[in-house]
Amino acid sequence: MSSRRSLKPKGGKVRVPVAAGPRSKTAPRATASKVSPAAQGLRTPGAWLEAAVRWYEEREVALGQIATNAHDEALYLILRTLEIPLEAPPSVLDRKLSAAQQAKLDVVFRRRIGDRVPAAYLTHEAWLGSHRFYVDERVIIPRSYFLELIPDALARRLPRRGATAARMIDVCTGSGCLAILLAHGFPGVTVDACDVSSDALQVAKRNVREHGLGQRIKLFQSDVLAGVPAAKYDVILSNPPYEPSALVDTQAPEFAAEPRLAHDGGEDGLAIVRKLLAQSRDRLWPHGFVVTEVGGLRAAIDREFAALRPQWLPTNDGTDCVVLFDAKYLMR
Ligand SMILES: C[S@@+](CC[C@H](N)C(=O)[O-])C[C@H]1O[C@@H](n2cnc3c(N)ncnc32)[C@H](O)[C@@H]1O
Repeated sequence: MSSRRSLKPKGGKVRVPVAAGPRSKTAPRATASKVSPAAQGLRTPGAWLEAAVRWYEEREVALGQIATNAHDEALYLILRTLEIPLEAPPSVLDRKLSAAQQAKLDVVFRRRIGDRVPAAYLTHEAWLGSHRFYVDERVIIPRSYFLELIPDALARRLPRRGATAARMIDVCTGSGCLAILLAHGFPGVTVDACDVSSDALQVAKRNVREHGLGQRIKLFQSDVLAGVPAAKYDVILSNPPYEPSALVDTQAPEFAAEPRLAHDGGEDGLAIVRKLLAQSRDRLWPHGFVVTEVGGLRAAIDREFAALRPQWLPTNDGTDCVVLFDAKYLMR
């Protein structure tokens, strides 16, 4: 069971998707088959919504990448496909649809429910809080617990609440989303970000540009920290691949559509975490720390890294899945 999470923008009078919580990577596979919604005479967005929720349930479509429930995800797809603002009033659900609009919705739900394409790959966007990111099949869809922790929970651990922090790094940056959250959350800080995947770095580059952060975020292609130029950091942050390989083999199609590199943490899930901790030793200032998401690996981490005094950061749902290691224990 994975504990990555995502949040959609708040608000929306039509009850747009607001919060996607922990998601399962082991949701059962369902046979991909076609839906034929257009044939069913669905003439309003509301009728499509009702039918779509039923299809999601019948086909056991996996959720958790962009919303935790079928209603929110289907509504999001309907509004985006029809180019209706997410904040629109509920009355939009009663609008009469043209034949062309019905055909567009037909294509979208065939791809989502029949072909099991993740919603975010259909709309090419994902959200962490109010921050929007471009996404496509080259990157995992952002859904990180770090949204809850950047900047306040990290700032509390830094001298002068981070006011004197100069440099942080996001290791395994994917779409660049967490590097961008760091840059927004700590305006005085230079942020490095690295990923082993050149495809992911192309997406990160686009997001960094779209957020106007080209001057503050530097991207590197690197196996964990090995290829990042020597520098000392106040914070080394990572949301690495941490699923055991055998679990990755059983993922529902939506999660299998994401890059395997983003999920697969090796036999016991800890391959990248081990590298990260080993390589961080000489990369931190003495007041600094490594903070990383680790999914359901708490017991394994507490056992293997007891000497490094792992500290589990509280998150809203109470799952211990983000762990912090102080430099003073790493450097001993
Ligand atoms: C779980 S994703 C996280 C992406 C992004 N930080 C987020 O929160 O959405 C893990 C990322 O780690 C990258 N990765 C996998 N192995 C790596 C390695 N050895 N060194 C650096 N990055 C790696 C993958 O390409 C993927 O983009």
